[in-house]
Amino acid sequence: MAHRWKNDLTRADATPYDAFMNRRQVMGGALGLGLIGAAGMARAQRAPLEPNSYEDITQYNNYYEFGTGKSDPARNAHTLTTDPWTVVIDGMVDNPGDYSMAQIFEAMTIEERIYRFRCVEAWSMVIPWNGFELADLLNLAGVQQGGKYVAFETALRPDEMPGVRFPVLDWPYVEGLRLDEAMHPLTIMATGIYDKPIPNQNGAPMRLVVPWKYGFKSIKSIVRITVTDQEPPTSWNKANAREYGFYSNVNPEVDHPRWSQATERPVGGGLFAKRQPTLMFNGYESEVASLYEGMDLRANF
Ligand code: MTE
Repeated sequence: MAHRWKNDLTRADATPYDAFMNRRQVMGGALGLGLIGAAGMARAQRAPLEPNSYEDITQYNNYYEFGTGKSDPARNAHTLTTDPWTVVIDGMVDNPGDYSMAQIFEAMTIEERIYRFRCVEAWSMVIPWNGFELADLLNLAGVQQGGKYVAFETALRPDEMPGVRFPVLDWPYVEGLRLDEAMHPLTIMATGIYDKPIPNQNGAPMRLVVPWKYGFKSIKSIVRITVTDQEPPTSWNKANAREYGFYSNVNPEVDHPRWSQATERPVGGGLFAKRQPTLMFNGYESEVASLYEGMDLRANF
């Protein structure tokens, strides 16, 4: 599947170090060290990642607005109208307003990022996303002095979302990041998977992906992004504050109150697939640990 590897910069995520160095020498010039930078180098030194199949990624989902079963979103989410789609960007920004997806696509550069994805329920996948850095969108809106957090909100459409008839969560689904987490180069807005537009069940037309945090932080089908100076409320924390914290960084040493987070089940390997050890910050420790320097990660789970 050659299309997987469209983007040389991000192929570093999945390429062993030696192969990556060879290609880098061949590429030379414009795509040399300057453009790839420290984060790319750090990513390049990790083991290669083999992405899950398109089927795994799009048939095994959590999207409670369409039902709580893993196959409900794939069955039900076709009813969501994703075109036209408008995202409100407001709060502490210089250019608040309604941004259409057409405007966003016009302004952003889409690239591929192959990331590990670790759900708090202890299953995991490797997903080749297409998208852009959230920082680029926030810079377009112009974050003002004093902005400390970013709040996100999913669409709430009872006519199109059969799951919101049930009070499983306090709808709409909301999430939040600290501003430095939101601006981190690993944090993306995903608009595609395997070079296809992102399917509704995965959060069309645009969803957050924060690869070092449990999957529930990666909020789907976003209609509002608000820069604020207050820590925003988050859906799972509101539902059960003892079990789901604001940070929710992947951490094999801090268990969920009801299960261990030390290992994970890779989806797609069959029911009896060998569990894998879960990595600190889901394997992105060298890139993101500095965000949490001096913080008690057990208290700030
Ligand atoms: N976003 C919304 N709006 N509603 C949801 O139920 N589920 C979260 C997250 N984003 C969810 C959501 C959870 S628990 C996970 S693990 C991921 O989406 C699943 O993403 P995927 O279905 O693309 O694997």
